[in-house]
Amino acid sequence: MEKGIYVITGATGNTGKVIAESLLAQGEKVRVIGRSEERLRFLAEKGAEPLVGSLDDAAFLAEAMRDARAIFTMIPPNYTVTENFRAYQGRIIEAFVKAIKDSGVTHVVNLSSLGASLPEGTGPIKGLHDSEQQLNSLEGVNVVHLRPTFFMENLLSGVNVIQQMGVNGSASRPDVSVPMIATKDIAEAAARLMLNPTFTGKQVRELLGPRDYTMIEATKILGRAIGKEDLTYVQVPYEQVRQAMLAQGMSESVANEMIELFESTNEGRIRPTGERTQENTTRTTLEEFAEETFSPAYRGSAGAAQGEATSA
Ligand SMILES: NC(=O)c1ccc[n+]([C@@H]2O[C@H](COP(=O)([O-])OP(=O)(O)OC[C@H]3O[C@@H](n4cnc5c(N)ncnc54)[C@H](OP(=O)(O)O)[C@@H]3O)[C@@H](O)[C@H]2O)c1
Repeated sequence: MEKGIYVITGATGNTGKVIAESLLAQGEKVRVIGRSEERLRFLAEKGAEPLVGSLDDAAFLAEAMRDARAIFTMIPPNYTVTENFRAYQGRIIEAFVKAIKDSGVTHVVNLSSLGASLPEGTGPIKGLHDSEQQLNSLEGVNVVHLRPTFFMENLLSGVNVIQQMGVNGSASRPDVSVPMIATKDIAEAAARLMLNPTFTGKQVRELLGPRDYTMIEATKILGRAIGKEDLTYVQVPYEQVRQAMLAQGMSESVANEMIELFESTNEGRIRPTGERTQENTTRTTLEEFAEETFSPAYRGSAGAAQGEATSA
């Protein structure tokens, strides 16, 4: 197979990290982008070329993308931006577009989201709609927009809630069935496309996880994995969630976008545009995620709290 260089943005994040590790494990040349040499070190130790810079820096990106066979683009969630969140996303999109033009990259796998077909009313997904539009305007560049559903990793915010309140809770409705996906399955789909970049034109691939779950069902599964068979789920009012996000350091702008996202999911506006098929169904079940990821995070945080209490 023809070898080449692959460029991964967000390489220390949920999805980028697994793509980078997968390509490196297959002996590929990989450039990994992040803001910290320290955080990129584990990938450098596996053979990646670490590039430290910001995703709104078009010149840095163009240099990083030089001679790339395929690139993975994503717009990081930045919870502290005080400017309009869509404008923040717009600056990164602008840099990607300029860098792709200047570097001559021909194949892009772009991390978008379910709901990106809608221009308004979807919180942070509005910026991903913009990114699709902008990348689609690039002539001669082949792009696949991956549109994954709700990440199972979002459920990790329940760790603290369960520790502190004894119940699982968020602004999501308890009874709405939502497809949920493990980010490693998004990474697998992205890596597969990048390694065989024969895709042409502009395409969209929805990724829907193994099946749909309500928060009631999800909470039962998580509860079982942490030895709390009777764990229950409580829907928290939007304003209370907004205040909690602000108290955790989230900017007003981002908190408002997140509430709009909860509303649009609860009201069923963010949903697949097509039927569930073998192609858009991915393998990791919530039961597996609960055992492999949620339970260790819950037990780790319980251990940390215990350590704090002991050392105080
Ligand atoms: N959560 C969901 O349910 C969901 C569903 C569909 C789509 N999405 C989309 O998925 C994306 C998030 O993906 P993810 O969870 O894989 O990412 P993530 O874990 O949040 O990682 C973000 C990455 O971006 C890097 N980064 C942050 N700011 C940067 C900057 N200015 N310049 C360069 N690098 C920067 C971070 O690295 P350093 O900190 O090391 O620099 C990190 O590697 C978002 O676009 C989100 O809208 C999310």
